[in-house]
Amino acid sequence: MRRANYKPIFASFLLSVVTIQCMLQSSASLSVGYYKSKCPNAEGIVADAVRSAITGSGDRGIGAGLIRLHFHDCFVRGCDASVLLDGPNTEKTAPPNLSLRGFEVIDTAKSQLESACPGKVSCADILAFAARDLVVLLGGVNYSVPSGRLDGSTSSSSEAMQFLPPPFGDVSQIQSMFAVKGLTLDDMVILSGAHAVGRSHCSSFSNRLYSWNSPDGVDPSMDKNFAAYLKTKCPKNGGGDPVVDMNVVTPNKFNTRYYKLVKAHKVLFTSDQTLLNNAQAAALVNQSSNQPYTWPRSFNKAMLKMGAIEILTSANGGRIRKNCRVAN
Ligand code: HEM
Ligand SMILES: *[C@@H]1O[C@H](CO)[C@@H](O)[C@H](O)[C@H]1NC(C)=O
Ligand SMILES: *[C@@H]1O[C@H](CO)[C@@H](O)[C@H](O)[C@H]1NC(C)=O
Ligand SMILES: *[C@@H]1O[C@H](CO)[C@@H](O)[C@H](O)[C@H]1NC(C)=O
Repeated sequence: MRRANYKPIFASFLLSVVTIQCMLQSSASLSVGYYKSKCPNAEGIVADAVRSAITGSGDRGIGAGLIRLHFHDCFVRGCDASVLLDGPNTEKTAPPNLSLRGFEVIDTAKSQLESACPGKVSCADILAFAARDLVVLLGGVNYSVPSGRLDGSTSSSSEAMQFLPPPFGDVSQIQSMFAVKGLTLDDMVILSGAHAVGRSHCSSFSNRLYSWNSPDGVDPSMDKNFAAYLKTKCPKNGGGDPVVDMNVVTPNKFNTRYYKLVKAHKVLFTSDQTLLNNAQAAALVNQSSNQPYTWPRSFNKAMLKMGAIEILTSANGGRIRKNCRVAN
């Protein structure tokens, strides 16, 4: 009788051994310095391409675009560069693509890498390196990026719809979409700080300006002056879909401003503002707003976790694409 009691304990012990082994195996497929022998200057080539893109074009906003590309890549089919594939019904063609930008920078880096070391460096790794380089160039803290990702061959707009969190979602909806990818509520709060940089189209938040279920149609959780300002940028019947900076104070600076703006009710999306509706998330928002030293390091850690989502192996279809836009 007593022995029988051990069975479930033993089974769960075995299960945890297996789980730990799987975790070790999946993290073992990425390593810092992976290209050291395969293509020694791979990271340098990406860094140069990225640097000249944001200084050359004078468009530092491209930098924000590249950080976002890595996020979109990893949330759909894992970090496999599926976001870069051209064609009908790919992720790019789905509505969450709004303003995805920076594709040409990846093309440039890739063609330089193909001349330096043909067929060696994956598009998915280029995205991960570029996101890191941009964080640094915009004023964040440097971090080592484990690499060895492989590229996929499929990209689907319906999967982009299914897995990319919408700006209209509230904290609990966004939390569950992060959980599907193995990321916690804390990871979500920390990563959302990326909204310190870049821009948004009016259509991503105009639900909060004109059609909220409130007497004046404005989301009552938005600061009144901020709402009035946004209405001048995004007129109700203005036509087109203008863009506004996420962070009007320091639009191209990778800092903790985002958290101060959340606290001040001056952020664009429902997904940003409703962080305050969850006690744990609100506490981390408050903490991060006061931690210009700690937050960038927490951000980097969370980026590494995001950058390790569902990594492909060659056994399950991973490859190194020659052209990041084509499934070759
Ligand atoms: C938490 C859930 C998230 C939602 C709902 C969300 C949604 C959005 C939306 C709607 C835009 C503006 C698109 C447009 O209208 O042009 C945007 C921009 C951006 N997002 Fe997020 N995002 C989320 C998380 C993240 C994460 C985890 C990162 C990176 C770590 C990120 C980085 C960015 C950046 C840098 C931009 C600016 C892009 C540019 O200027 O081109 N976002 N996001
Ligand atoms: C983004 O999606 C829209 C449909 O919502 C589509 O018209 C547009 O062409 C897509 N952008 C890209 C770069 O494919
Ligand atoms: C960031 O760190 C990596 C190594 O981890 C290094 O290759 C790269 O040059 C650094 N970037 C900057 C801008 O210092
Ligand atoms: C925010 O953090 C500060 C100190 O870091 C603390 O004094 C304050 O009580 C916190 N506010 C909330 C609402 O948690």
